[in-house]
Amino acid sequence: MSAYALETRGLMKRYGGLVVANEVSLALEKGARHALIGPNGAGKTTLAGLISGTIRPNSGSVWLFGEDVTRAGPAQRTKRGLVRSFQITSLFAKLTVLENLFLAVSEQRGESFSIATPAAFRRETLARAEALVTQFGLGPVANRRVSELAYGQQRLIEIALALALNPKVLLLDEPAAGIPSSETGVLLDAIETLPQEIAILLIEHDMALVRRLARDATLLVQGAVIARGTVASLLASDVVRQVYLGKAARTIPAHA
Ligand SMILES: Nc1ncnc2c1ncn2[C@@H]1O[C@H](COP(=O)(O)OP(=O)(O)OP(=O)(O)O)[C@@H](O)[C@H]1O
Ligand SMILES: [Mg+2]
Repeated sequence: MSAYALETRGLMKRYGGLVVANEVSLALEKGARHALIGPNGAGKTTLAGLISGTIRPNSGSVWLFGEDVTRAGPAQRTKRGLVRSFQITSLFAKLTVLENLFLAVSEQRGESFSIATPAAFRRETLARAEALVTQFGLGPVANRRVSELAYGQQRLIEIALALALNPKVLLLDEPAAGIPSSETGVLLDAIETLPQEIAILLIEHDMALVRRLARDATLLVQGAVIARGTVASLLASDVVRQVYLGKAARTIPAHA
């Protein structure tokens, strides 16, 4: 049995003649902090879809904690601890921030809310939702409807929502994209202080974030794994510099 938290074996995905995932094999240990990097159109988001189950592979398999989940749908994978953030559409726009978190925590605890829910259970759920509000600095907007909030704040809530689901494996696709720089600090602190045992796959273009949040990295180009290793070794390698040349010459500093 595989000891990996998340594993893909030979994943293939084609759209017509375009190969978007080409024999992609990845393995993340429990507690991994793994970055997936590569130029626009490399297939990173598609790979996240193949892992989370929203996209079906042409061949290959996906494994969670030694179990083949290739045929399982996204919801079944989430039940097994795989959480993908974020899809803003998963927020209830008409509910408040706190209500959204309350529902997510409630769902994770296996009880859909009803008036028959014991008061003690509701209090614990509320306490956990309030702790997430505090952790993400959302106190001032806790009772505002999600639809009234700025895009950056909505993304922050999506991360909080992902955490409410108690992930064992967390997929983050460009978590800081669209968030004003004044708000990224809270987000990065929250990601950095996630429980050690969670395995994180971080898709990211910003190499400063990759250095800060990841230990290991995989370079994807045209759907194929071109290089992998520690973040430091990969970012220093010629292949990464060549792939990102032009853009990279500015965004990848020579030293950490
Ligand atoms: N449903 C689809 N049908 C056809 N082609 C698609 C589909 N989804 C993605 N593609 C193509 O697959 C390739 C990989 O796209 P993907 O979004 O996975 O790249 P990415 O690495 O996430 O890029 P970015 O860094 O810009 O987010 C692109 O060429 C894209 O146009
Ligand atoms: Mg993408």
